Amino acid sequence: MDREATRNAWRLFNLRESPFFQEPLQAGTRYPMTLFVGRAEDTDRLLGKIARSPGSSRQTVRGGVGVGKSTLAQHVKAEVASDGILSTPAAVSIGSSLTLDQFCALILRSVLDALVGTKPRHPALQRRLERAPAMRQAGQLVRIYQATSRGGGLSVAGFGGSVSHTTTPVTPSTATPSLVIQELLRELVGLAREELGAKAILVHVNNLENLIEANAERAAALLRDARDICFMVEGFHWLIVGTVDAVRTAVDAKPQLATVFSTPPALAPLSEQELQELLRKRYAALRRDTDRPARAPVDSEAVAALYRLFDGDLRGTFTALDEASGELLGFGAGGPEAALTLKDIGPFLVRWYAQRAVERLGAATVAALHKLVQRYAEEPFTLRAVRDEVLETRNNTVARRFLEQLLRHSYATEHPDRLPSGGRPATQYAIAGAAKLAGALLPTRPSPRRR
Ligand SMILES: Nc1ncnc2c1ncn2[C@@H]1O[C@H](COP(=O)(O)OP(=O)(O)O)[C@@H](O)[C@H]1O
Ligand SMILES: [Mg+2]
Repeated sequence: MDREATRNAWRLFNLRESPFFQEPLQAGTRYPMTLFVGRAEDTDRLLGKIARSPGSSRQTVRGGVGVGKSTLAQHVKAEVASDGILSTPAAVSIGSSLTLDQFCALILRSVLDALVGTKPRHPALQRRLERAPAMRQAGQLVRIYQATSRGGGLSVAGFGGSVSHTTTPVTPSTATPSLVIQELLRELVGLAREELGAKAILVHVNNLENLIEANAERAAALLRDARDICFMVEGFHWLIVGTVDAVRTAVDAKPQLATVFSTPPALAPLSEQELQELLRKRYAALRRDTDRPARAPVDSEAVAALYRLFDGDLRGTFTALDEASGELLGFGAGGPEAALTLKDIGPFLVRWYAQRAVERLGAATVAALHKLVQRYAEEPFTLRAVRDEVLETRNNTVARRFLEQLLRHSYATEHPDRLPSGGRPATQYAIAGAAKLAGALLPTRPSPRRR
């Protein structure tokens, strides 16, 4: 069935489009913060810390893939806005390789965006902001580093000409973000206070795991180097978001950072009730005809079963629901108007995930994945188990590559607990929902909920 037909199928449920989008909520986007549910305790903890630390604060937000970390950070930013804490809806999203200077440039950009704001300001105020030396210098650095991140290294000699029309003198040191950021941040928060009446600025750094994946030691060193010049500057609140293991490696394990960052517990998955509430909100928000309620395109039992299979990974759950309803909506056994059931979507999802796994991993890797799924669908496993029991090799590198591939494509996830062993506790992993489906482990009927 083609997508055009599916679009029409949404109509049967009084929906404009798929309610199973996978993007984090973000103010000012198609995915507004009004769709936020739950997380009262996590929110209060983060807000409380910020409120108790008017000067500056540093907190991590950690949790499994797809559990709702980015969305929680967005929620916190929206909440503190009314307390005069500026931020920008877009997060500082870190890629896999980043130098300290690039990191500083990204932070400056986020702070500039926070100052410029999303709503039009009085023209005179806007002009004063634009003319402020700190704004101009930061803007220049951001432009230079945006250009360099698109290609090639920074050539100090080369950009002199392009910025000569400004009044800020550019020397190699003023063009090195890490050398000037501390002073610039102080000036920028001063500006925010004087011109905008703001109290402080909040910076949201997202996807720490990308940095860790490339090179854990380098990533930790980078954050350590950013400590005094960024994280400790008065007037700034920091939210550093990443998977449990990434935050543990880069923040907890480094005393210089661990001592200045608060470490709230990892985010627990939303309860099944909260997920159903989340979906009810999405259905209501996406109604075609707002005089009538929308109807659930997939029945709540099937939703709950998938959510259990994906073990609290909302993004994984929505991907499965989106694919299944995109293909099958209007063609359920109960007739075109009936919500899809687990019986309707199960076989399709197994086919779809199995096929996608072969496309992404290749047949040989998928065969090994099947073996892993058979053995470890219900309990966590270690790299060693992969090596000895699944790949049956002595080669650690081969085992690690296999595991990395599974993690990258979300066929496996980090398990929150480490396995105590003689020496260093071993990291444990768990089979993710996508791998279970690819291995034809169909979701079962949900039992009364444990969470
Ligand atoms: N508390 C919440 N309320 C409503 N939707 C949420 C909530 N948490 C997450 N979501 C939704 O779940 C999906 C995954 O959330 P996201 O924040 O991207 O997870 P993470 O950053 O942990 O990978 C997104 O589609 C997001 O819109
Ligand atoms: Mg995220």
